[in-house]
Amino acid sequence: MSQQHEVQETREGFASKIGFIFAAAGSAIGLGNIWRFPWLVGAYGGAVFLVIYLAIIILVGITMFMGEVTLGRYAQRSNVGAFKKINKSFTWIGGIGLIAGFMILSFYSVVGGWVIYYFLRSLIGFGMTDPALTEQLFSSFISNPISPLIFHTLFMALTIWICYNGVKDGIEKYSNIMMPALLAIVIILAIRALMLPGAAEGLKFYLVPDLSKLTAQTALAALGQVFFSLSLGMGSILTYGSYLGKKESIPQVSLIVPLMDTIIAFFAGLIIFPAVFSYGFEPSSGPGLTFVTLPAVFSEMPLGQLFGGAFFFLLFLAALTSAISLLEPIIAYMIEEHNWNRKKASLTIGGVIFIVGVFASLSMGPLSGFKIAHLVFFDQLDWVSNNLLLPLGGMLTALFISWLWGTQNALNEVTNDGLLKFELGNFWANVMLKYIAPALVFIVFITGLGIF
Ligand code: PHE
Repeated sequence: MSQQHEVQETREGFASKIGFIFAAAGSAIGLGNIWRFPWLVGAYGGAVFLVIYLAIIILVGITMFMGEVTLGRYAQRSNVGAFKKINKSFTWIGGIGLIAGFMILSFYSVVGGWVIYYFLRSLIGFGMTDPALTEQLFSSFISNPISPLIFHTLFMALTIWICYNGVKDGIEKYSNIMMPALLAIVIILAIRALMLPGAAEGLKFYLVPDLSKLTAQTALAALGQVFFSLSLGMGSILTYGSYLGKKESIPQVSLIVPLMDTIIAFFAGLIIFPAVFSYGFEPSSGPGLTFVTLPAVFSEMPLGQLFGGAFFFLLFLAALTSAISLLEPIIAYMIEEHNWNRKKASLTIGGVIFIVGVFASLSMGPLSGFKIAHLVFFDQLDWVSNNLLLPLGGMLTALFISWLWGTQNALNEVTNDGLLKFELGNFWANVMLKYIAPALVFIVFITGLGIF
């Protein structure tokens, strides 16, 4: 009791529910929505990916989001500590998350660097609508041995700096200005893109599913993207849950955040695909899709420089708040489990991730000949973390909560021992979290990997 008491008193927390929503949305909304989502939609055949993605958000994403918040708030610990507190023999589930977060941040920061570069570049104005030119701009930038590293350094340094200064002063402050502004600008850009000549083709690609394109790989990629976009399966949301006040409604925040995240991703698609078809880009062009398409949009838009600058700046902030949430669980782990202080943890862990990121960045250029299983190091980090570690971590977390900790304990935490009402509680805990969500993840996972 006394130890529990101590932890609660010294634990940093969010000032309010709104603080949590902004921080969790800050974690969820990021490059996943605007860079990775359209890239995957394009690569996996358009609307069919969108449909599977939405189905997985509803059947798996929201359920698991709520599970992580609940576990985190009950345990009052970050990722690893939460598992350890409930059952020591399963501490390693949290460990999977730490590895995933580590790997994700190392390539995430590289893309965050691209965004800073594109922000600066958009202030000058792109002045190009020819796909050949915007592709040239992108590929010559990312393959340059020096410049992407400068921006990766900048992005990572900022991430470390915010974590170094702690939760309250850091995360909340950056999230609550950015989100509404980002939403506003994606809506404006979507309207603009929909007015482009030939936009209807893009809409059709994005919204009318061609079920013949559905494969097990599409489903696995969509599953991985749900985890990535909602920051699930690696302890980010769990850790933020541990900062959520006991009187706040877990079901409410667990609906609002995934909803906001999905809306932003959906609008990102409404910008990218009409533009892709209008200007004649290749929808399946991979990780560069957003970066090659948007310059064309800004080049021909009234006040394009202003919109371009504002857009990339907001995307940069969104990426930063996500990056913080990737680093924070690892820092919290070092503080809670190894008695490091925050400063030492931020600098050391951040420093190592930075170095791995250098290799991820170089694998787009000078080291592109070095491949593991046909993928360059950057793609390998992305594939392993999103298609393997996050689904695995998420599935084990759901099973851990419902079978080991127990659905009744989880429900008690959600309802604050009966003080709050939660009508769908039983269904959530005993049907969705216990059976449906983990079973779906398992099926998609093994069929997607070709094990079955
Ligand atoms: N959800 C973030 C995004 O979409 C990325 C992220 C993944 C953050 C996992 C934290 C944990 O950009």
